Amino acid sequence: MGKIISCKAYDIYINEADALNTMIQKLNPSRIFVLVDENTGQHCLHHLIANLDQPFTTITIPAGESFKNIDTCKQVWTALIETKADRKSLLINLGGGVIGDLGGFCAATYMRGITFIQMPTTLLSQVDASVGGKLGVDFDGYKNMVGLFSEPAAVIINTEFLKTLPYKELLSGYAELLKHGLIADEGIWEQLSSIDDITGLDFEQVVYDSVKIKKEVTEQDPTEKGLRKILNFGHTIGHAIETLSFKTDQPLLHGEAIAIGMIMESYLAKEKGFISDDAYEYIKSSIINLYGHKYKSVPKVDDIIAIMLLDKKNAQGKIMFSLLEEIGKANFNQEVDYELIEKARENYMN
Ligand code: GLY
Repeated sequence: MGKIISCKAYDIYINEADALNTMIQKLNPSRIFVLVDENTGQHCLHHLIANLDQPFTTITIPAGESFKNIDTCKQVWTALIETKADRKSLLINLGGGVIGDLGGFCAATYMRGITFIQMPTTLLSQVDASVGGKLGVDFDGYKNMVGLFSEPAAVIINTEFLKTLPYKELLSGYAELLKHGLIADEGIWEQLSSIDDITGLDFEQVVYDSVKIKKEVTEQDPTEKGLRKILNFGHTIGHAIETLSFKTDQPLLHGEAIAIGMIMESYLAKEKGFISDDAYEYIKSSIINLYGHKYKSVPKVDDIIAIMLLDKKNAQGKIMFSLLEEIGKANFNQEVDYELIEKARENYMN
């Protein structure tokens, strides 16, 4: 059937079979390039080969966040130069968040910008990274430190690709859907948080609902001056926990860390008097029901704070949180005492 979400500058197509060929006819590019990594080259590229009416050149990069850097961009730019890509060329980014962010960055800077289409293949990238125009790469140990805001010509989502994902990856992406419910739509949170097995979901519908929230927030504040910060709910602590987990024998996926971050930051909201005890317990038990409670060794607060202080979203050395005001509504620019973070940590672990 398919669904379309219209944005100011482009459209997001969900399971619209003809979307890619129609877009290409409209754009009329001189050449088409498809950027994949080793995983999407293996699991998703055949879909394009079978469905794209026009010839294209594939550029393959290694898979994983550790390759989201300028060296990999150099490989992409070099491939474009060597195959004589001109300003009318089109780059299709077929993959997860790394492919979308890095590929979009390469396209937006190659010859001062060529057209690109995002084709996100993971749940995380379908509901988060592909929407809102943030592009970039990690640099010098800092996540997404070099980049820009630039819009694609289209975002084309095929939820069939989700079947290629391991369950752990699917659940990781699901954390962003839960977040969208918690910050913007109580009904969506209630629906998503009451599910025990997410594999049976109608992904076309839940991806649509979630992307709509992300689109509405990012269109009101495209460059994150204010409202867009609510999308960071769960991420201030969650991202620090994710980063610290990489140095342990229990590295966490992004969504696994964000799930813990959402619980701990909900505790902060409770302590600041925004949400009730009951709402906090409801959020905590629902998230633990889905993600388990196996990550007992949440890093020490000093280590979490040290990482949080490096976050580029801070201003004047202050750590700013986006917290729930109620289930379905969030605020931003909230300062929190460090002792409260310790209490949130203890409460999560017990
Ligand atoms: N992932 C948060 C944002 O796009 O602003």
